[in-house]
Amino acid sequence: MKYGHFDDKNREYVIENPKTPYPWINYLGNEDFFSLTSNTGGGYTFYKDAKFRRLTRYRYNNVPVDDGGKYFYIKDGNTVWSPGWKPVKTALDSYECRHGMSYTKFKSSKNGIQSEITQFIPLGFWGEIQKVSIKNTSSEIKKIKLFSFIEWCLWNADDDMKNFQRNFSTGEVEVEDAVIYHKTEFKERRNHYAFYSVNQEINGFDTDRESFVGLYNGFDNPDVVNDGKPKNTIAHGWSPIASHYIEMELQPGESRDYVFMLGYVEVDENDKWESKSVINKQPAKQMIEKYNNVEKVDAALEELRLYWDNLLGKISIDSGDEKLDRMVNIWNQYQCMVTFNMSRSASFFESGIGRGMGFRDSNQDLIGFVHQIPERARERIVDIASTQFEDGSCYHQYQPLTKKGNAAIGGDFNDDPLWLILSTSEYIKETGDFTLLDEMVPFDNDESRAKSHFEHLKASFYHVVNNLGPHQLPLIGRADWNDCLNLNCFSTNPNDSFQTTGNKKDGQAESLMIAGLFVTYGKEYIKLCQRIGNEKEAHEAQIHVDQMIKAVKTHGWDGDWYLRAYDYYGNKVGSNENEEGKIFIESQGWCSMAEIGKEEGMVENALDAVKEHLDCEYGIVLNSPAFSKYYIEYGEISTYPAGYKENGGIFCHNNPWIMIGETMIGRGDEAYDYYTKIAPSFLEDISELHKVEPYVYCQMIAGKEAIKPGEAKNSWLSGTASWNFYAITQYILGVKPDYDGLIINPCIPKKWDGFKMKRAFRGATYNIEVSNPDHVSKGIKELRVNGKLISGFIIPLLEKGKAYDVKVIMG
Ligand code: BGC
Ligand code: NOJ
Repeated sequence: MKYGHFDDKNREYVIENPKTPYPWINYLGNEDFFSLTSNTGGGYTFYKDAKFRRLTRYRYNNVPVDDGGKYFYIKDGNTVWSPGWKPVKTALDSYECRHGMSYTKFKSSKNGIQSEITQFIPLGFWGEIQKVSIKNTSSEIKKIKLFSFIEWCLWNADDDMKNFQRNFSTGEVEVEDAVIYHKTEFKERRNHYAFYSVNQEINGFDTDRESFVGLYNGFDNPDVVNDGKPKNTIAHGWSPIASHYIEMELQPGESRDYVFMLGYVEVDENDKWESKSVINKQPAKQMIEKYNNVEKVDAALEELRLYWDNLLGKISIDSGDEKLDRMVNIWNQYQCMVTFNMSRSASFFESGIGRGMGFRDSNQDLIGFVHQIPERARERIVDIASTQFEDGSCYHQYQPLTKKGNAAIGGDFNDDPLWLILSTSEYIKETGDFTLLDEMVPFDNDESRAKSHFEHLKASFYHVVNNLGPHQLPLIGRADWNDCLNLNCFSTNPNDSFQTTGNKKDGQAESLMIAGLFVTYGKEYIKLCQRIGNEKEAHEAQIHVDQMIKAVKTHGWDGDWYLRAYDYYGNKVGSNENEEGKIFIESQGWCSMAEIGKEEGMVENALDAVKEHLDCEYGIVLNSPAFSKYYIEYGEISTYPAGYKENGGIFCHNNPWIMIGETMIGRGDEAYDYYTKIAPSFLEDISELHKVEPYVYCQMIAGKEAIKPGEAKNSWLSGTASWNFYAITQYILGVKPDYDGLIINPCIPKKWDGFKMKRAFRGATYNIEVSNPDHVSKGIKELRVNGKLISGFIIPLLEKGKAYDVKVIMG
């Protein structure tokens, strides 16, 4: 069953039924200032950091789901309704929610009144705009009362939900004209405030939640709206809100437009006050002025549209399959921007108060984003590397507001350092900008400890070399990519967090996944050494990579697939000898991508084993059989019921590793089959089961051993977005930036006749047309650029500013 449809022309998903199986959300804002918005008007807004600078409040895991948002109430006689259906939930005559590229539109109607709301954040602006239009489509004169509503968060979203003994006494607001200012804590250490305005005169307002809603009511039934008149309250403590009240009389056919703005202002320490206790409102007024009419708002919306035209124009395909095209051309790229911005911090599954920017997550998110805005990718790489330590180890995350690393969600994840080589090499391949390697980058955010970025990569590489275990395989530390395979953390106390619990200090557990990662990015590190003329280091590094390959072949092969790990006691994990968890996906993916033992048939064997033991109708599960009991020496992984999350769930992030592995041995049918199993647009028809948005990837789909296979959770913020974009564009469609040119080496399903791709690369545009007359999966018979034959798979760098016709014949 579907709840809407794709509108590819407008790059929108159109939700036609507000009762989606879960809130289906969108993100507004592309830099610094962001909002989350659901298909019923739920969500919240923050500046840079969802924990430390939250503007509006949100209630997590609430009953009913998705409570709190940017709400409007329309009172038309005795009927009260909301344009987003919620919170009032009056049955609407029509409803439509269009989630588009950084904007959301609601169009709904009731009893001859039509409302249209467009929410977005103009580029470079610290404010959300809500353009509201109310139209009388009936043949009678209508007297309408419109109430807006938001609830302020007292800035620190974590404290806001906990520290009531203080927070119920700190709230402060000011109201001037049609603007409600939120200034809690402004008089002490905060040099910032927020405001909610509307561009027309109002007939009243409210700023005290209890007065507006009523202590025993919900958002669906506020006292003030029921009474049809505001109380003009000024909040003192408790819970400050902002609600405007507007009366209008509409002739048949007449409509009114309003521009609401939810803005954030920072003022100079010396310029905080207009007069005693009255905040300096000048900056807010300038912001309001900037978009004080519909024409200005529409121009900003158009600018946003052009911005996305440009970003999405850099890679686009025509494959003949609309489901694939809309993923690659629109939604996957859009999601890559969102994961780049949010890491794993703020979604409807990540509270925004738990996690900041993950070290490994942000490095990986970058590979699906770097072609869009390389300058921002470069800045991000430097921010991430700045949190690293001299020995290569890293904080697992940093807060976006401070950019300083912290240990709030643990540390000692021994895969972390290597992802920096991935992001750096992908950035250089896309841009050719080797100067990044020379940039001075601090360790542990301490400028006095800065060294070149190349030294950071070296530290990453040697962090593995210096931390090898009894089989000369990488020590796993607290865990590797799989946060839940906690092989050195023996916890019997249910009050311990698996993420932060102290490791067994003498932990000798080893990871085959890190081994594969090390070989893959070790090879990349060697190439970078050669590029900068450091042959000695390249040679040295090659020795370590070769030793690792040998160690994997000797100690990491189980006969039919790669082992997953050795545990604390030196026992095998992910072996046929084990009763449960006999085979894991991560080491199959990484050792295949590293092509370890390819000549001996290991890669092919391992991928066959994945197909046999891990593949199912909805994707590839993480491990099999899933654990049915708690294994203390395995940690969190065995805490999950079988088939969910890291215990036998389809953890989508790692599926593309297998797709890429398949392309390494030329199996395009298998690679693409795996792709279509988890790509959301291919799952639209089973939305009822799938539950989450059909336009973005989710972290996890319940696996074959789950109670409800195919049901997904944790949409939006997952490394799946960047990895699947990377897998489909660079390995399956096979157009891959490299240091000296653009590689063209598709690995597609045999039945395809070909495809087209437009690819911007290093200032030139390549119009690539691939044809597959012999119906092969891999191999190129002929490659021509502007008619000229090229030998091999690489188009060398060509003159900038021009477009090139690339004709590829497979065979
Ligand atoms: C989850 C992981 C997650 C980790 C850190 C675990 O409970 O299963 O997917 O990365 O927590 O938040
Ligand atoms: C989610 C985390 O964000 C990511 O860093 C981790 O690799 C996966 N979970 C797997 O545990």
